Amino acid sequence: MSLDDFPRYPLLFGPSPVHRLDRLTAHLGGAAIWAKREDCNSGLAYGGNKTRKLEYIVPDVLASGADTLVSIGGYQSNHTRQVAAVAAKLGLKARLVQEKWVDWPDAVNDKVGNILLSRIMGADVRLDPAGFDIGIRDSWERALEEVRDAGGTPYGIPAGASEHRLGGLGFANWAREVEQQEAELGVFFDTIVVCTVTGSTHAGMIAGFSGRDRPRRVLGIDASATLEKTRDQVERIARHTAELIGLGRELRDDEITVLEGWAGDRYGIPVASTIDAIRLTGGLEGMIIDPVYEGKSMAGLVDLVRAGEIGPDSTVLYAHLGGQPALNAYAGAFS
Ligand SMILES: Cc1ncc(COP(=O)(O)O)c(C=O)c1O
Repeated sequence: MSLDDFPRYPLLFGPSPVHRLDRLTAHLGGAAIWAKREDCNSGLAYGGNKTRKLEYIVPDVLASGADTLVSIGGYQSNHTRQVAAVAAKLGLKARLVQEKWVDWPDAVNDKVGNILLSRIMGADVRLDPAGFDIGIRDSWERALEEVRDAGGTPYGIPAGASEHRLGGLGFANWAREVEQQEAELGVFFDTIVVCTVTGSTHAGMIAGFSGRDRPRRVLGIDASATLEKTRDQVERIARHTAELIGLGRELRDDEITVLEGWAGDRYGIPVASTIDAIRLTGGLEGMIIDPVYEGKSMAGLVDLVRAGEIGPDSTVLYAHLGGQPALNAYAGAFS
């Protein structure tokens, strides 16, 4: 089996844009920094990393005959917003469990941003008081049951589309896309920096790049603040995806790197370095990143370049995975 043996339902505009971040590069005074933009990869409700993952899941949805996508995330989940968009696009219903993953004292946290967009797209949005956990949840299994009891045919997509057999394929394909873009641009990204929480974005990249001749580092920056769970999930999904796409060998431990230090104490709560990274990237590049995910991975990139852990001769690709709609629920962090 190889990646080409898996059907892909196109949801993206095409390859996501890759461009230099010249002013950020000059400001940090080290490695050359570029970005690849999943935040503008699709016309479906602003796109993002889940839209890319869903390209490989939709064929399975259609083959299953389901009429309702059932998924789960926090109130400000980017993932459930993208599931709602794909459901709308396919003419399916979406039933979304939105848990209270983040104790963030903003009165509009369950009203604006991602959750607003899901409501606009017609999803059946239900709030649930449960806290953060990237694993399989009872509330999600109950939602599947309720759809069945009401005579519907559900298709379950777990948090972040990660604990799904096909969840890593979208970013294995991303790796291939990067190689094509490198050939066109005449550049080689020796280091990839990516935010990791439910794991299949990072895991898919690891699997996708692992079969290639020229080694590179894929550095996952943890934003879950539950490091061991995320690391386990990345490792499991990377190994499974590598097997699915026919790597033909076990992944080595040194191919799986999840770095801690920028998540703060809790998922979804920005810390000083997150806010600094958001202002820095916005002010230097006009590139907007969010306080839950990309603000944390960018804070990691900034420190790693400044400390020389990503050396001055490196060419770095920052994976911008989307997530800006959540900013609306975090206005207080910038006032
Ligand atoms: C904007 C954004 N960045 C990063 C991530 C992390 O990706 P993953 O859950 O695949 O590890 C997510 C989703 O969780 C996200 O929505």
